[in-house]
Amino acid sequence: MEVPFSPPRIDDKVIAEVTDALKSGWITTGPKTKLFEQKLGKYIGNSNVLAVSSATAGLELVLKWFGLKEGDEVIVPAYTYCATANVVEHCGAKVVFCDVKSDDFNINPESVKDLITEKTKVIIPVDFGGFPADYKELYDIIHNEEIKGLFRADNEIQANFGRILLLADSAHSLGATYGGLKIGSVADISVFSFHAVKNLTTGEGGAIAYNMPVPFDNAELYDFFRTYSLHGQSKDAFAKYNNSSWRYDVKFPGFKANMTDILASIGIVEIQRYENDTMLKFKHIFELYNERLKKYKWAELPIFKTSTKESSYHLYALRIRDIKESARDLIIRKIKSKGVAVNVHFIPIPMFTYYKENGYNIANYPVAYDNYSREISLPTFYTITDEQIQFVLDTLIWAVEDSL
Ligand SMILES: Cc1ncc(COP(=O)(O)O)c(C=O)c1O
Repeated sequence: MEVPFSPPRIDDKVIAEVTDALKSGWITTGPKTKLFEQKLGKYIGNSNVLAVSSATAGLELVLKWFGLKEGDEVIVPAYTYCATANVVEHCGAKVVFCDVKSDDFNINPESVKDLITEKTKVIIPVDFGGFPADYKELYDIIHNEEIKGLFRADNEIQANFGRILLLADSAHSLGATYGGLKIGSVADISVFSFHAVKNLTTGEGGAIAYNMPVPFDNAELYDFFRTYSLHGQSKDAFAKYNNSSWRYDVKFPGFKANMTDILASIGIVEIQRYENDTMLKFKHIFELYNERLKKYKWAELPIFKTSTKESSYHLYALRIRDIKESARDLIIRKIKSKGVAVNVHFIPIPMFTYYKENGYNIANYPVAYDNYSREISLPTFYTITDEQIQFVLDTLIWAVEDSL
């Protein structure tokens, strides 16, 4: 039996909606993008949400808007996808990696505290695998008077803000909850990804949710970023087309990171069935994996629910107790030889050539390395059958027990 890792769910509903976009004659940003944003906003309980071309673009737009530049520092977990750190590099600022926790893979607030300096402008927690970061603990740190006293504002936005920005990399966590709120309504700004492997995909895509405190106006921020994501044009193509006025202005040099109606049409279908269909299926997959694996001493199961948090059930990040990286790699080769696609999330960023050459050393992030060296992500996708799940488990159990 072949089991892929995370193929998208492309069914007749998606095809019909995309076909509708294609036949409408309007394929770039337009009414379907707007509708997708409205549905997304309603779902996360925050109407100020802008659809963009990717989470990477969304994160970078926010950092650029906040005025991040050379000499600034941004605290990023060592254990994440490279995008979280690369966007900081793009701004010329310094990435300050922080070690993660051994229970849920997320950034460790205790370590964050020690890394804050007067150069720290932003912290980017990642909701790893869909499980929310420790937002209360992170807010307690950045609201602390002593820490606020360290903050050096370099522009008007930073002066109005007066503290470190909590920019959530919520690429994995659409639908997750923290303290009863949906992710997107918790951090100052949250960025989602709708990349092909995510629970909700638009092929490529992302969204920025604004939840900034006063004196910021989140509806104004939405409007500003809409322009910012389209070259700073005073009108997008749809507005020009609609009111048949061709003249527009460029008030500042914006970026090109808008979502298109073709992609948004996939999102429109997916968001409508996300909570009561997609998420239920992902939760079911996690429960089936847990049900059998909890019997095995070697299996360290991922956390997906506590009294304050619930995951979006994006990655089933299993860890094997007491093994080395090479043994984990061997187990993966054995699993793959039986037709099951598994993955590793993530190779810690300090292990990549660029970051190593720039002075980062994985030895300084022992928990990130330990998590990585023992981690195997099991297949999670909407159309996986119970039979396939049991086959994944048979194969995994055989491969581990054959290797220990
Ligand atoms: C944690 C994390 N952050 C950011 C991204 C970037 O998302 P995108 O591909 O939409 O730019 C990803 C993508 O996989 C991710 O896993």
